[in-house]
Amino acid sequence: MSSYNIALNFEDGVTRFVECKAGEKVLDAAFRAKINLPMDCSDGVCGTCKCRAESGAYDLGDDYIEDALSDDEKDSGLVLTCQMVPQSDCVIAVPASSTACKTAHSAFAATVSKVEPHNDAAVVLELDVETNAPVFLAGQYVNIDVPGSGQHRSYSFSSAPGESKISFLIKRIPGGAMSTWLDSAQPGHKLALTGPLGSFYLRAVERPLLFLAGGTGLAPFLSMLEVLARAHSQQRVHLIYGVTRELDLVQVDAIDIYTARLPNFSYSTVVADADSNHPRKGWVTQHIPADALNDGDVDVYLCGPPPMVDAVRQHFDDNGVAPNSFHYEKFTPNAAARTA
Ligand code: FES
Repeated sequence: MSSYNIALNFEDGVTRFVECKAGEKVLDAAFRAKINLPMDCSDGVCGTCKCRAESGAYDLGDDYIEDALSDDEKDSGLVLTCQMVPQSDCVIAVPASSTACKTAHSAFAATVSKVEPHNDAAVVLELDVETNAPVFLAGQYVNIDVPGSGQHRSYSFSSAPGESKISFLIKRIPGGAMSTWLDSAQPGHKLALTGPLGSFYLRAVERPLLFLAGGTGLAPFLSMLEVLARAHSQQRVHLIYGVTRELDLVQVDAIDIYTARLPNFSYSTVVADADSNHPRKGWVTQHIPADALNDGDVDVYLCGPPPMVDAVRQHFDDNGVAPNSFHYEKFTPNAAARTA
């Protein structure tokens, strides 16, 4: 391969992708893309360019000094971008804002190709991407301008990176700006988007995964599952998909496909409504199998409303569960922004 795709995640949630040529250092590749990563000496001496490599293979060489990057820091995944030569696609967390690095998220246009309502619960929105569509990391989101409203809403990609069509799973909110627009949306309508955004994305897969989805928080997991399937992942993955009402269980058929495509994938659905006939009722925390926690050697990903995030945290605390990592994204269905 003559170049690698490097995702730079800034601390304000903006992600930019740069192409790094074989043998090129990340700092230089970013500079070519007019992104000013933090730096001072560019010589492995000052440590100003220290970032965290979250996935990928790379070589740091031995031309830097211990004061700039200690062995412990290196072992924990810290890198000096002025020394880092990627040997695969990489994801790098940059401890600075995108504006400080003189960059910003990108804007792009898309055209509605499908609007598929799922009763009163959700809508699958599929878009054809035109020029300058961004690459993104499975789990990330974009802001979509709601035509004519002067507002935008944030939605996680449910499709996987690298496709000409992108899709979203959107909760229907009575009277909500996007829901109202979607009621009359037709194929061919244009939309303006900005992104990708967010630090909720699939990291390097090195141990079992536990995915916890609340309602339309399922979307980023559909994207992640597709990425895992394409990579022929053998890793154990368990997804718990919790909703309020049985009617809110949408795209279960899309999840089910991965039981055939991923050899060690399992999932369950949970309905909170006490009057439901669903076989599993209550909260997702009541339906986490002990083996899915793998004695803590597990990476947990959660996308759901804030009370769900808090409940899962509390559940882990109460039960002495300390997962290797816990990545989460809180969203409120009618809010313009997400937090992770
Ligand atoms: Fe000084 Fe990289 S810029 S160590």
